[in-house]
Amino acid sequence: MIVAVPKETKEREHRVALTPEVVQQLAKAGYAVRVEKEAGLNAYYTDDQYRQAGAELVDLRQELLAQADVVLKVNAPTVEEVGMMKKGAILISFLYAATNPSVTEACERQGITAFSVDAIPRISRAQKMDALSSQANLAGYKAVLLGATALGKIFPLLMTAAGTIKPSKVVIMGAGVAGLQAIATAKRLGAIVEVSDIRPETKEQVQSLGGKFIEVKGDDSIKLEGGYVKNVSEEFLQKQQTLIAKHISEADLVITTALIPGRKAPVLVTDDMVKSMRMGSVIVDMAVEQGGNCTLSELNKTVVKHGVTIIGESNLPSLLPLNASDLYARNIATFLTHLSTKDGFKWEMDEEITKGSLIIHEGKAVHPSVQKA
Ligand code: NAI
Repeated sequence: MIVAVPKETKEREHRVALTPEVVQQLAKAGYAVRVEKEAGLNAYYTDDQYRQAGAELVDLRQELLAQADVVLKVNAPTVEEVGMMKKGAILISFLYAATNPSVTEACERQGITAFSVDAIPRISRAQKMDALSSQANLAGYKAVLLGATALGKIFPLLMTAAGTIKPSKVVIMGAGVAGLQAIATAKRLGAIVEVSDIRPETKEQVQSLGGKFIEVKGDDSIKLEGGYVKNVSEEFLQKQQTLIAKHISEADLVITTALIPGRKAPVLVTDDMVKSMRMGSVIVDMAVEQGGNCTLSELNKTVVKHGVTIIGESNLPSLLPLNASDLYARNIATFLTHLSTKDGFKWEMDEEITKGSLIIHEGKAVHPSVQKA
């Protein structure tokens, strides 16, 4: 099977789907790996490293895509890229299919089979393939560093001859994978960390990392499914805003990570709450691409509103392209070798990971999220 890795074309994207280390493993297992020229350069991997690992380098993306049996990408391809793929080819990438109809429709027209890594079930057996977690983990780390750099003060308690500096206070909203890594990173840098989430099990996880849990009592409107928050009412969000307002107003850095899969991110930090913060405070809105947890954040911009710096970087893993590509490549290679051998795909249609992540099969939408959309 010919497995192709094109260069990512999305703006601000520095990651690459396979690294030389993983290419070597796949080549050893008998896959014929082809990589677009300079595909890994932004992640600091050279064409020579890919060649030495056993990949064939291809100059033209069109030629690479037209001949591939399997296309491995980080981001969803563009409609134009889907059009370059041969009929019957298999695509594996982040697709966010429910909110990406133009690409899924292009795959249907082209007779493509598409697996989406964001739809891989979050079960223990699939942990090695869990690209959502590997990337969120790095994003949580980077969010703290970006916030710390934008802040005009240090994190830890510092006793000097000139007096004592009080530690900074960091408030983290959402204790999923990114939030937990943000807690650990901010703690290591010496900050006081306060955290809120609405999944009850997060309290213990937060405390075990040394964070203080801000308890917001849930209500019947909170629906959980498969470990995710599925729904939450406007009334609850308003109640939550009132309860967390004091903590936000006293924070030096606020990091928001709250997401509801397939929906707009919940509003947690309102205009008034930003106004209540001290001048020079910082907000990092990690949900900015899904509409934002803060009403004043702007996609891919750092803005100053009411004296508060609000960072709206949408692609934090791409700012750590080396680690992010390393982990993603291992995730996607484990996924590929779960689904296939060098000779072809296994098509175990009732197997949980296959079933959960298969979005389009031979041009036909098969995943409930796309069928509903
Ligand atoms: P996510 O990125 O979808 O959401 C981030 C966090 O925001 C979640 O913790 C969620 O509870 C929180 N949130 C949503 N609405 C909120 C609100 N109004 N206020 C405060 N917080 C709010 O979540 P992520 O990080 O992708 O994790 C999803 C689930 O998957 C979690 O239960 C996690 O433990 C689980 N998981 C399981 C794995 C496994 O292999 N068993 C691996 C990784 C994650």
